[in-house]
This record gives sequence, structure tokens and C-alpha cells, in this order.
Amino acid sequence: MPFTIDSVVPWGRTMAEYRGMFNLIESDLRGRILGCGDGPASFNAEMSAQGRAVVSVDPLYAFPAAAIERRVEETHDIIIEQVTRNRDDFVWTHVPSIPALGRRRMGAMRRFLADFPQGKREGRYVDASLPDLPFDDNAFDLALSSHFLFLYSEQFDLAFHLRALQEMLRVAGEARVFPLLQIGGAHSPHVQAVLSTFAAQGIRATMESVSYEFQRGGNRMMRLRKPCGTRA
Ligand SMILES: C[S@@+](CC[C@H](N)C(=O)[O-])C[C@H]1O[C@@H](n2cnc3c(N)ncnc32)[C@H](O)[C@@H]1O
Repeated sequence: MPFTIDSVVPWGRTMAEYRGMFNLIESDLRGRILGCGDGPASFNAEMSAQGRAVVSVDPLYAFPAAAIERRVEETHDIIIEQVTRNRDDFVWTHVPSIPALGRRRMGAMRRFLADFPQGKREGRYVDASLPDLPFDDNAFDLALSSHFLFLYSEQFDLAFHLRALQEMLRVAGEARVFPLLQIGGAHSPHVQAVLSTFAAQGIRATMESVSYEFQRGGNRMMRLRKPCGTRA
């Protein structure tokens, strides 16, 4: 199926949220980071403003800023209405209320939109789609997937997840994925098979608790690490 702007529901998180979701510490932030499916998150913009090295890939980046902005405006009310209908499925501590959620997401997306044209010229926003990444082996220290892998387990099967994570581990020494839940809050059916498949390949495959929780029960991330000295 072709990727169209109308098939995307742009909803972007902030650098503080990325730090919480992925247990990112200063030594992580000093490395070369690849964000897979970063969409309209402000992680890249905020990190780059601090002089840090982030590249984001997303098929959304094929579209001009004006088209992304229009789509952001179109989908805001739809998502807020959905969250309002299902408010008990979420934990209202990090984000205290639905209006605060709308403000935070729109703030992140505006920050992304302001950075997108320059970031695209600088090669920080790359139009690419998992499971294929246009980078050399070990080009990055850390590859992240926030709210793409596992979240859309109904649309993307186990084989896709394994190929995507294998590719993330080809270009980076480590991959982290958050959340491990699907849309609607059910556990992803792919998590255990992904852990055991990578563990069998000698990858250190673990699940870790994180401080961030918005989907109720969604406070764990997956961490996959190549053994030290492995080049691909
Ligand atoms: C829910 S958004 C998450 C955005 C951001 N990571 C965050 O957490 O704020 C999911 C993103 O995945 C992107 N996406 C869809 N298919 C993809 C693929 N095959 N490879 C990489 N990203 C994809 C979408 O365009 C969208 O921007």
C-alpha cells in the first residue's frame, strides 16, 4: 500500500518524553542517535539545538512542511476526541489533563515544523521506511523506535518486526523500543518472540522499566545490544 499523507496520524513527543521512555542518560545523549519513525516529534529539533547528533527517518519526511502542518492541524481534534472517550486507558500524571496533552503535542509538532526545512537540508530528517535503512553498518550508537514498532502490531507482523530490528542493529550498536503495548493498550504479541529470536543470536535482549507511563501499563521498553566488538 502506498504511503500517503492522509494515512498518517501525526502526533509528536518531546525530548523530555524520549528521555523518560528510553531511560536516556547523558552518555546516551552524547552518542550518534537514529530515531526510526520520529514523525513530528521535537526530539531531533531539541537535541540538535543542543549540538547533539540525531538523524530521524520517517516516510512522512517525503512531504513538504506545509502538507505535514495541514495534516497535524486536521488530526489534532480527532485524536483529542479519541483520548477523551478512552481517558481511563491513560495515566494522567506526566500529562495532567487532556488540554495539557493537546498543548504539549502541538508544541512539540510546531517545534518540529520550525526545524524541518533546515533539518532536511542538513540530512537530519531522512525520508526512509523500516525495515530498510539507508545508512552504513554501525553508523550510529543507538537506534530508537518510539510509538511505531509493537504499537502497530496488527498492521505489521512478527517478520516485519524482526527485519526492522535486525536492520536497526545493523546500523547501530543498540536498539531500544517503546512502548511494548499496542494501540488500545493490549500487550504486543510479538514481544516474546522478538526477545527469544535475538537472544538466540547472541544479542543481549532485555526489557526494562522506565519512568514514563501514559498508556496505562506501558512503562517498559525493550533494549537489544550487540555484544561488544560486533561490527554488524
Ligand atoms: C505515532 S507516530 C510516532 C512519532 C514519534 N516517534 C513519537 O513518538 O512522537 C508513528 C510514526 O511512524 C511513522 N511510520 C509509518 N510507517 C513507518 C515505517 N515503515 N518506517 C518508519 N516509520 C514509519 C509514521 O509516519 C509516524 O510518523
